[in-house]
Amino acid sequence: MMPDGKKNVLLAVSGSIAAYKACDIARAFVKEGVSVTVTLTPNGAKFVTPVTFETLTNSKCLIDTFDRNFKFEVEHIAAAKAADVCLIAPASADIIGKIANGIADDMATTTIMAATCPKLIAPAMNTAMYDNPIVQENLAKLVRYGYKIITPDTGLLACGDVGRGKLAPVETIVEEANKVLSGTGRPKDLAGKKVLITAGPTQEAIDPVRYITNHSSGKMGYALAEAARDRGADVVLVSGQVALTPPPGMTVVKIVSAADMAEAVFAEFPDTDVLIMAAAVADYRPKTVADQKIKKSGGGMTIELERTTDILGTLADKKTHQFVCGFSMETENLIENSRKKLVKKKLDMIAANSIRDEGAGFAHDTNKVTVITQEDLCDLPLTSKAETAHLILDEIVRRL
Ligand code: CTP
Repeated sequence: MMPDGKKNVLLAVSGSIAAYKACDIARAFVKEGVSVTVTLTPNGAKFVTPVTFETLTNSKCLIDTFDRNFKFEVEHIAAAKAADVCLIAPASADIIGKIANGIADDMATTTIMAATCPKLIAPAMNTAMYDNPIVQENLAKLVRYGYKIITPDTGLLACGDVGRGKLAPVETIVEEANKVLSGTGRPKDLAGKKVLITAGPTQEAIDPVRYITNHSSGKMGYALAEAARDRGADVVLVSGQVALTPPPGMTVVKIVSAADMAEAVFAEFPDTDVLIMAAAVADYRPKTVADQKIKKSGGGMTIELERTTDILGTLADKKTHQFVCGFSMETENLIENSRKKLVKKKLDMIAANSIRDEGAGFAHDTNKVTVITQEDLCDLPLTSKAETAHLILDEIVRRL
């Protein structure tokens, strides 16, 4: 946190051609009103000059450990203390190796070593370098020490090769750092509480190669899990098959079908304090699952479906002390239909989503939710899923 109360990102830029993208990263935070301190490695400075970052961030770019032009403070320690999140982007094989092995021989690596805030690393390098087992071992070691790796993309690299190692998109990097920032400074008002969250779609098998599913990306459930963790809860995340990295600092139970999800939730429920069912659970599954791949025939085909267990419906009579929040996604009559679910499933709260609203619903990084209880109705603003998650938790905590 800066003396003026602004959140601060410490952006360490190392020697990779992707260093030019760090300018867009810095700019994105400045636009959000977040202060950015850039520290450049000497090799990073060969790709982008400190002046570029200073102009973009309106603050001094830290590059020389022995710079005498300072305000009587030890700069790398002051920068480390002010940081709410440390983002190493792009991270070359060299800086990854140095951090993993405790080497601090320039301004960037000393500042990173002194920083105690959460640290995110966005690697960028040639595929053969990225796949080198030593680099992979260094990354695995950093994960063990609590660093989060923002997985690089696969694509055309600056060297002309096609493969893994392309810096993750700027938006992804900014979003990951924002998740951390939205958690900093939050009250630990869920400390000592067990929060059970379901996320993502279920898959209902038709035969060994086909299944019925839906468009849920899992992003809202994962955002809730991360927000609850940041507020001190013991989080169990029961997740359908999604393309998201399991968040650190919680128990993640991966499931496939509605039946698997029901089993996992029923097992965890008795000592849970708060259950949030953000998952898009299939209401129907094929009545029979073929042992072998179904071969096509001349005419049409009919699949007979049967109901899955209504997880929330079943829990209604098993509730003791738990606060239960459901989710509802509708294309019409959002409030009326969501209220019906609240009553029918005996929920304490339902978070209602209209997929007709711009920027809300499946796969987006933003959401617009109306929180409904027996007594109240509260329209939350259109905002990031990370912020929406905290706003929903605010509503839950107020009622615990
Ligand atoms: N849900 C559940 N078990 C199911 C299906 C849904 O626990 N088999 C949960 C969802 O996770 C969500 C809530 O119930 O929190 C509402 O789900 P939804 O499918 O929208 O509601 P339904 O009551 O099934 O109504 P609809 O007829 O609109 O499908």
